[in-house]
Amino acid sequence: MIIVRDNVLYEGIISLKSEKGYYATPIGFTIRGNNIYIKVYHGSLTHSYLSTIRKTVLNITDNPYIYLYLAFKKEFNGLNKVSFIEVEDNAPVLEEAKAYAILYLRDIIPCLNYDTFIYNYNTFVTRNPDIEPLSRCNWLAIEALIYLTKLFKIRDSGVEVSNMKTYLNHVFRIMERLCNDPYHKELVNNLFKLYISISGNHNNNYLF
Ligand SMILES: Cc1cc2nc3c(=O)[nH]c(=O)nc-3n(C[C@H](O)[C@H](O)[C@H](O)COP(=O)(O)O)c2cc1C
Repeated sequence: MIIVRDNVLYEGIISLKSEKGYYATPIGFTIRGNNIYIKVYHGSLTHSYLSTIRKTVLNITDNPYIYLYLAFKKEFNGLNKVSFIEVEDNAPVLEEAKAYAILYLRDIIPCLNYDTFIYNYNTFVTRNPDIEPLSRCNWLAIEALIYLTKLFKIRDSGVEVSNMKTYLNHVFRIMERLCNDPYHKELVNNLFKLYISISGNHNNNYLF
């Protein structure tokens, strides 16, 4: 069974079927009763898909590599690194998902830089109950990814990013200390390479 509480900002992966095939991206979501709220920034592919495709899937996973691959799809050929199972028409569930819910778009509330998408859902279906104990390494990796996708989005906009960089440096310093097994070392290595190439501190052509 999955436990979700109202008014908590959780992280998951939204997946859908478009004319071009399956698509998935990390997303923050909040639950209130049978409604799920998602804020999607303007100008993203996610935004245009969610505006036109009413049925989507919300996948629950704590696998940091899934977040890495799907946050930086082009750089990691990410959509080809995950598998989808179409549990019903237009409902592609990530094979990795520990649980999922099928979402039906109810309303879109426009805001300045983002829109809030409101969905109905019936229930979360549990697929895979395997758990790994909570680790700072995993949660800092997700935290780093959130800021890396933000930095990536605004890197040429002239918006002041020095606070974000200071924070990311801090996160990387802690991860360097705590992430000592090969699985997490490789993860941090990938995140740090992304950071260097996005922030343009050193070699701009490192990844992109
Ligand atoms: C953990 C995590 C949470 C994210 N949450 C959101 C979110 O709530 N809203 C959003 O617009 N983008 C969010 N992003 C960024 C998107 O996943 C993605 O980078 C963005 O939609 C641009 O990709 P696209 O051009 O393929 O749509 C998040 C990224 C990560 C790593």
